[in-house]
Amino acid sequence: MTLQVIVGAQWGDEGKGRIVDWFAAQADFSARYNGGDNAGHTVTVGSRIFKLHLIPSGIIHPRIVAILGNGMVVNPGTLFEEMDMLRQAGISVSPERLRLSCAAHLITPAHQALDKALEAERGKGSIGTTGRGIGPAYTDKATRRGLRLADMLAPDFCDRIGDHVTEANRTLRMLEAPELDPEPVCEQYREYAGRLKPFIADTSLELHTALQAGKTVLAEGAQGTLLDIDFGTYPFVTSSSTTAPGALTGLGLGLDVACGARVVGVVKAFQTRVGSGPFPTEVFDDLALRLRGTGEHPWDEYGTTTGRPRRVGWLDGVLLKYANRINGVSELAITKLDILSGLESLQLCTAYRCEGKLLTDLPFGSADLSPYEPVYEELSGWREDVSAVRRWEDLPSEAQAYLGRIADLAGAPVRLVSVGPEREQVVNHP
Ligand code: GDP
Ligand code: IMO
Ligand code: MG
Repeated sequence: MTLQVIVGAQWGDEGKGRIVDWFAAQADFSARYNGGDNAGHTVTVGSRIFKLHLIPSGIIHPRIVAILGNGMVVNPGTLFEEMDMLRQAGISVSPERLRLSCAAHLITPAHQALDKALEAERGKGSIGTTGRGIGPAYTDKATRRGLRLADMLAPDFCDRIGDHVTEANRTLRMLEAPELDPEPVCEQYREYAGRLKPFIADTSLELHTALQAGKTVLAEGAQGTLLDIDFGTYPFVTSSSTTAPGALTGLGLGLDVACGARVVGVVKAFQTRVGSGPFPTEVFDDLALRLRGTGEHPWDEYGTTTGRPRRVGWLDGVLLKYANRINGVSELAITKLDILSGLESLQLCTAYRCEGKLLTDLPFGSADLSPYEPVYEELSGWREDVSAVRRWEDLPSEAQAYLGRIADLAGAPVRLVSVGPEREQVVNHP
């Protein structure tokens, strides 16, 4: 049995979608285990660019079965839009190919309204959420009043949706935010329930059985390690378990499948972050523009879900080492190496300095990293365009050296290097 976990090692948007697409060519199942439509995963196949928010990125491969696990929060409206988008591109999304866990939780317009109202209330201390209702949906789950996909099949589902909106209205009133009329929400969710019914299943049992039968399951993390509810830069995090161990609880799998699991840490060749929170290696001005791009290319650093410009900086080896430890990374996939071509030199953060002391591990309680000054190692850049390179030995020696230092700092080998967004723009490390 083979479980392969593709996990973001930074603050999200590492290029997980394109790496999942690469591994999916050899897999049987592609499964998302956390988050909801706050995620935006891009897969580029020739001239077609797929932006997926809920459906696992492996769906583009015809033989894959796609699973939305119990750890997810699902907005049915986004799901149906995504299904339509895929169908228009000629990709089948029948219940034979796509199944949703009966234990996944629903996102409703009331969750979205609460997300926005709570962010407004936080004012300057806002998290910069995607506004998709993620936090409030997981809050309902944790306080045991959430609505699960299985509830859609119950005769009293509409009453429960109505009660949920009425309950949310109480909080919205306190926050002086507009309230919602329960009636249209009930109507809409009644209709969603009818359409979703054939897709709802016991996905934990299905994945367990598949693994027992020797199938390969690709677990796709959303967000990244540093946005994890427990291990991220709290409170500037998302509300789910984004790390590789989260794949077990988020898919309903036991520890037996963790033995021998392949854990691929996806690392962008530089650092990015959307929303608020600490970012020790952040850069500004001309260098930021150079790393971010101006928005003329589809891969420039603007949010896939919200379109917000991403904050950018040098790769942070301290955070990378931490991500490796928390996830148990067995190998690294480095993305966007091509973006660094043409830079004269590169800075790689190898430690933090604070009050004369050097730290190579993330300081205890990571909420405020402002006292920690990054210590940089300077490496030579390379001029060559690497986007057409397919063999490790054809990469410029400076690029090989940079990748080698990343592996040293992370404590895991580099297995894949992505040199462009297209499916084939990949270098395998022997
Ligand atoms: P995800 O959320 O981790 O799946 O990443 P996103 O899809 O949000 O953002 C990654 C962006 O970079 C997308 O536009 C990808 O098409 C693009 N991308 C991925 N790998 C590469 C690469 O190696 N080079 C370039 N230029 N773009 C890439
Ligand atoms: P993918 O899967 C980058 C960030 C938001 C915000 C914080 C909390 O594409 O890598 P939320 O809406 O989840 O409550 O917002 O998390 N965030 C992401 N940043 N990539 C993502 O997903 C993200 N999903 C959420 O910007 O700072
Ligand atoms: Mg993304």
